[in-house]
Amino acid sequence: MLEIKDSVAVITGGASGIGYSLAEYWINRGGKAVLADVNPESLNMAAQKLKTRVATLQCDVRNEQDCTKLAAFAMDTFGAVNMVAPCAGIIKDGLMIDIDTETGKVNNKMSFEQFTSVININLTGVFLTIRECMEQMVNHNCQGLICLISSTGSLGTAGQINYSAAKAAVSVMPRVITAELFRRKMAHKIRCVAIAPGYVKTPILEGMNKTALDYILKKVPIGRLIDPEEIASLAGELFCNQALTGDVFFIHGGLRLDSKG
Ligand SMILES: NC(=O)c1ccc[n+]([C@@H]2O[C@H](COP(=O)([O-])OP(=O)(O)OC[C@H]3O[C@@H](n4cnc5c(N)ncnc54)[C@H](O)[C@@H]3O)[C@@H](O)[C@H]2O)c1
Repeated sequence: MLEIKDSVAVITGGASGIGYSLAEYWINRGGKAVLADVNPESLNMAAQKLKTRVATLQCDVRNEQDCTKLAAFAMDTFGAVNMVAPCAGIIKDGLMIDIDTETGKVNNKMSFEQFTSVININLTGVFLTIRECMEQMVNHNCQGLICLISSTGSLGTAGQINYSAAKAAVSVMPRVITAELFRRKMAHKIRCVAIAPGYVKTPILEGMNKTALDYILKKVPIGRLIDPEEIASLAGELFCNQALTGDVFFIHGGLRLDSKG
């Protein structure tokens, strides 16, 4: 079992929601955290609340150089990278093709920007973050976990072709990365998993259609949103338990996993 105490976590999207909760969980257990976020104000507020064993860096995960700097910054500041949690993410929901119920004709299309902006952060940003952090982990002989954040949306949610496509791609990464590390006899040292949450009580949900969210919540057997602390706790267990790698771990309160029309 690994211990969180004295381990270093690099968390993107660390100023809010799941990323912030993970930082709090980590630091409360004696770990050190590097928080990266595109939003400098909320990053400062997060650091003030967390107080100790925390360093922050403004970082746009779409930018390759920012991700390189982030991984190097973690090494320079705390001397290791043991946990990588790329939590930066956005939603921009909408139907790919919307059809007027009266005329039967298309009245709206998801724009190129609406599609690519989600892919650029939620998929390319994850790739850049973990590639740069893994390089540092390998070169400095660090042990630990790459903990990706997928979603139940990876199974295909109506109104989220951009988000679902990105999350499905993220869901396959633990298998690819674990297989690649296995080839190089490193899979016991650097593990990779994904957490696939259902609906979690964080600011990202403010971008969701309220009626759609209420409808979905009626289908959650535990009858409430997941708390971000519950995601952090799962990430902590995944880090410590070295038998866990190469897989996707769902956490959704019993939600029926199907495409919601
Ligand atoms: N909340 C949910 O219901 C839920 C469910 C499943 C998966 N997730 C995933 O969890 C992750 C965290 O989401 P959250 O719910 O905490 O949302 P959140 O909105 O609370 O936090 C996301 C953070 O990412 C930051 N960010 C956005 N674009 C960025 C960029 N280009 N570079 C760096 N940082 C950027 C934001 O500033 C914000 O601080 C996301 O990947 C999201 O898709 C969330």
